[in-house]
Amino acid sequence: MRHPSLISLSHDHHHGLALALRCRKQALGQLKPMGAKGLKERAVEFGEFFTNNLVAHFRAEEEVLFPRMRALVPESEAIIEQLIRDHQQLRDAMPQLEGEVGLAKLVFDLGDLLERHIRKEERELFPLFEQHIGETAAEAVGAEIKTILGSSGFTAK
Ligand SMILES: [Fe+2]
Ligand SMILES: [Fe+2]
Repeated sequence: MRHPSLISLSHDHHHGLALALRCRKQALGQLKPMGAKGLKERAVEFGEFFTNNLVAHFRAEEEVLFPRMRALVPESEAIIEQLIRDHQQLRDAMPQLEGEVGLAKLVFDLGDLLERHIRKEERELFPLFEQHIGETAAEAVGAEIKTILGSSGFTAK
């Protein structure tokens, strides 16, 4: 059972995993429309999910969740460093979605990266939060996350 403070992040993760699967299937030719048209559709979909969900989602993690966990759960440090590198890699790749060259590989790799990233948060980071963060601190984190996600105006709840 996910801690209530993390549920809005997990909600985004749920949508992210579904998108990641569609991206990998598209790149492998298992989704219609096949070929360039379908790849372009997934590229647009990924770009929109990034703008509408992940921008605020990454901010909530980098400005609230990660610093609080670093301070209170020192063993989360290495995981968090990897997660921040993933965020940067995703941000850096967004302009490439506009192009047409190598789109199958890009769409596959982004789906793969997003899935591995989300699994790492859900399976490694969030359990550490649930084990080590006391209820008062957890509630404060939850409220700050909500403020950031709410202020984006787009993030589905
Ligand atoms: Fe993340
Ligand atoms: Fe996340």
